[in-house]
Amino acid sequence: MLEELQHAESISKITASDPLTKSEYFRVSLRPYLRKGAICFQAEMYKGAQVFHRNVELTNLPQWVEQNLWGKYKQLLVVATDREITYLTSTKGKVTRIERKKEAKIVLRGNDRRKNYIINEGDDVPALVDLGVFTRDGKVVGGMYDKFKQINRFAEILDDVFKNHRGKLTLLDFGCGKSYLTFIVYHYLTKVRNIDAEIIGYDLKADVVANCNALAAKYGYDKLRFAVADVSEPLDVGNVDAVLSLHACDTATDYALYFAVTHNVPYIFSVPCCQHEINNTVVKGNGDLDVLLKYGIVKERVCALLTDSIRAMLLEDAGYKVDVMEFVDLAHSPKNIILRCVRTGKKSSQNAAKIKELADRYKFDQTLYRLLNGDASARKE
Ligand SMILES: C[S@@+](CC[C@H](N)C(=O)[O-])C[C@H]1O[C@@H](n2cnc3c(N)ncnc32)[C@H](O)[C@@H]1O
Repeated sequence: MLEELQHAESISKITASDPLTKSEYFRVSLRPYLRKGAICFQAEMYKGAQVFHRNVELTNLPQWVEQNLWGKYKQLLVVATDREITYLTSTKGKVTRIERKKEAKIVLRGNDRRKNYIINEGDDVPALVDLGVFTRDGKVVGGMYDKFKQINRFAEILDDVFKNHRGKLTLLDFGCGKSYLTFIVYHYLTKVRNIDAEIIGYDLKADVVANCNALAAKYGYDKLRFAVADVSEPLDVGNVDAVLSLHACDTATDYALYFAVTHNVPYIFSVPCCQHEINNTVVKGNGDLDVLLKYGIVKERVCALLTDSIRAMLLEDAGYKVDVMEFVDLAHSPKNIILRCVRTGKKSSQNAAKIKELADRYKFDQTLYRLLNGDASARKE
């Protein structure tokens, strides 16, 4: 067997070309490849205009080459870090080995080079273990990867704004649910950035809130607390620096935004979800929008986007600079728009007439619009 392959870690490339038989592949090339944190070899196998890929374990490399390449190609080139070996095989099976000294670097390719997230796999955040995001040995639990990406991205967007903050910071998380986001943000701001942050998470579910409070106590997170509350009702809190909502259901997002506007909260970070309200109430209005209301699935998506556009426009009129941005890749959540809002205090009515015209023509309900227009029936006292 090719003795140089016993030291697979010093191989930078293997190429087999010119097949002796009607081999499937006219050329095969193997290079070191980083996969799930471990080095393997990736084989690229060319057939016609197509290229096929296969990953080969480092320890399995000699057997793989023997089975798939040895004796099947006129030329087999093995490039090691300190030499190049060419095996020439004749049609009668005679093998000639040519070796020459030549240095080569190992270039590691791969699709999982470690990204620098706010919270990375292996970081010591014990609450995330209890919440079922990390395994005991710090790996992301299978099935939680999308949530891990979402909370990391959300925290990254917050970090852009608050990383140099001095003094106290109070954040409210509306519809916090199991509070993966709330815990990661608290951990990051207080433990990594050393900010004197207080966070309150609100949710309807008493059992979930009790569990979050128990976890906060367990880890000595003394300025992280959770309260059972319906966010459509008034909340009694003092000065607030930022309102957060991640996938707060349907109109719960509107109440979060309304709270921020009416309490002059400087920052809002809101990823809406389940925007059913317009979809459930809109009627055709003899206007351009009608073509988008004809098919159920299109109507549902258009109404969700219309909801978020109206929210952003209302917030602009209420004195916020609003960025409507992609939050995470669609693959990690179909609800992937974030409204990032900074209070400027410059109120206007530039969008009001447009929204009124649409709402009147298409007869839909939109809670933030109703709330900001003083519709008492939208408020629970
Ligand atoms: C889809 S979950 C999102 C939870 C969390 N923010 C996350 O992203 O993992 C929505 C949460 O909003 C809560 N919620 C819905 N309406 C609410 C309301 N009016 N007041 C308080 N919480 C509400 C639900 O109980 C639920 O836990």
